[in-house]
Amino acid sequence: MNNILEIKNLSKHFDDVTAVKNVDFAVEEGGFFSILGSSGCGKTTLLRIIAGFQQESEGDVIIRGQSMKGIPPEKRPVNIVFQNLALFPMMNVRENVAFGLKRQKLRKGDINYKVNEMLERVGLHGYENKKVTDLSGGQRQRVAIARSLVMNPSILLLDEPLGALDRKLREHMKVELKLLQKEIGTTFVYITHDQSEALVMSDKVAVMHDGQFEQIDTPRNLYKNPKTSFVAGFVGDSNRFELQSTEAGSMTTKGGWTLPQPDLNGSAKELYIRPEALILNPANNLNDVDRFEVTIKTILFDGSSTKLSTMVSGSNEELLISLPQNAQFEGIEEGHTLNVGIHHNDLKCF
Ligand SMILES: Nc1ncnc2c1ncn2[C@@H]1O[C@H](COP(=O)(O)OP(=O)(O)OP(=O)(O)O)[C@@H](O)[C@H]1O
Ligand SMILES: [Mg+2]
Repeated sequence: MNNILEIKNLSKHFDDVTAVKNVDFAVEEGGFFSILGSSGCGKTTLLRIIAGFQQESEGDVIIRGQSMKGIPPEKRPVNIVFQNLALFPMMNVRENVAFGLKRQKLRKGDINYKVNEMLERVGLHGYENKKVTDLSGGQRQRVAIARSLVMNPSILLLDEPLGALDRKLREHMKVELKLLQKEIGTTFVYITHDQSEALVMSDKVAVMHDGQFEQIDTPRNLYKNPKTSFVAGFVGDSNRFELQSTEAGSMTTKGGWTLPQPDLNGSAKELYIRPEALILNPANNLNDVDRFEVTIKTILFDGSSTKLSTMVSGSNEELLISLPQNAQFEGIEEGHTLNVGIHHNDLKCF
């Protein structure tokens, strides 16, 4: 595959803060690449460097094989959608979307054609003459995306574009954005602190922490095979245990729960277990499964899923267990004990 964007050993220092540290990655043409990280980890700084609004301290940004050193933002084949959208409130939808094309001094007929086509694509046909202040949050979002896409960038950079929307609309927009990206085929580099957005939409996700990339992977791998304890704790829900000791083949948590230590990582300090990796009443013939008993403390029902908050018998450890959709609820009552199993591959130690 063709890499449209390559970031080589990029760093950015602000006085005493290093906002971006030795970041290296490549994005395939037509891909949806997300950078996921909590507030202040350096996401916006990285995006602004790619766009040319900020200069790197070290390293290089390469687009279609060409270094962007010394190339100003307006000459780079990228466009950016900001978190606050930055729409022009005095202009209507058409004028907002046409703005960049007008500055390029395109012919009026060409501008109209492109604007109409783009509004159609983002589902805003018929809204041309509305003021952007009269639109809903999701519609404004689409105007901002249309305004960037109409410039036909090689890469669209999006800085938390759904951040300002309420939860329901965000859920809806992330599906729409993914479909739109697939349809138009433009490469997206999307930054967010919302793991669900990153996992649902992306082909590849980079988890960023304190200026550095911890792991770049497919959403599924990131979830299934986290490479660092930060990724294991940040992506998805996990039970986390601190380890007291590890010996040949076994480990004991601070709360006194002893389990097998499958990857014999003698220096491991933490153990992560996904709530849905736990098996209720494991069959006797399952291999590589550790078996233990828990006592149910409380049942957490939230509509689509049920979780059990439990204590591991003989220890002082709490364990959250997700029940499968088709779980039998016989015997699942507060105070009852349950037999539980965990596959050795699902014990993640760091
Ligand atoms: N122009 C600047 N001058 C000095 N420090 C800056 C500047 N821009 C960013 N920083 C610092 O760099 C770090 C990373 O900031 P950045 O805005 O890139 O984070 P972010 O991941 O986008 O956070 P958020 O999710 O809150 O938007 C922060 O510590 C911030 O204070
Ligand atoms: Mg930011």
